[in-house]
Amino acid sequence: MKKIVVLTGAGISAESGLATFRGADGLWEGHDIMEVASPAGWNANPDLVLDFYNKRRSQLRTVHPNKAHIALASLEKKYHVSIITQNVDDLHERAGSSNILHIHGELLKVRSQFDDKLILDWKRDLHIGDCCEHNSQLRPHIVWFGEEVPLLENAITITEQADILLIIGTSMQVYPAASLLQYAPNKTSIYFIDPNPSVTQQERITILAEKATMGVPKVVEELMTL
Ligand code: APR
Repeated sequence: MKKIVVLTGAGISAESGLATFRGADGLWEGHDIMEVASPAGWNANPDLVLDFYNKRRSQLRTVHPNKAHIALASLEKKYHVSIITQNVDDLHERAGSSNILHIHGELLKVRSQFDDKLILDWKRDLHIGDCCEHNSQLRPHIVWFGEEVPLLENAITITEQADILLIIGTSMQVYPAASLLQYAPNKTSIYFIDPNPSVTQQERITILAEKATMGVPKVVEELMTL
């Protein structure tokens, strides 16, 4: 089976109703990104940070996977598919994809500050005073700016094996995630689907300057006929 690797960003979930990060106002749901997505922001105002992610977590209950998430799941009938997502939502899971690596963490998980390997499923609000078994405050399981990306090595290994790479709805501005493109072997065919694509036309890259719900089903249909 050929291997398809898919790198997704906030744009794939935009049409499900989840805001992207780098909109025109440069804010994430009305907040300065560093206020709610950095260790400094967490130390300065943990209540604000918890409240922010609590709102994002409850917002998840009101949204659904869109045609792009669903089309990607259908690729598994013919290919070995690995999804590497920068998104912290669970829309790929709910669309039915099986192999998903959340390199920037997950909204529906929290982790211990004492032991970062102690990760718990978490569907409700998280408050100051919610502690792990070591009596240490739990924090959102999100990779904040300035923090390491623990799953990066896995993501690189997966990308190095790609026969086909799909990049969808990402500004490719955030490293190291954006650097994954350079790990695709020379033989890999690459599709870049984004209404405002940040890569330029190159021999092996097919660019579809379209929204995900338009572009992804088209590419999937083409791949299913190969
Ligand atoms: N379909 C596809 N792409 C879209 C759509 C859509 N309907 N709407 C917007 N986009 C594209 C934009 O053109 C842009 O290129 O989605 C991209 C969103 O870019 P960002 O907001 O920068 O999101 P992303 O690339 O996922 O950000 C990476 O930055 O803030 C951090 O950790 C956070 O994972 C995030 C990372």
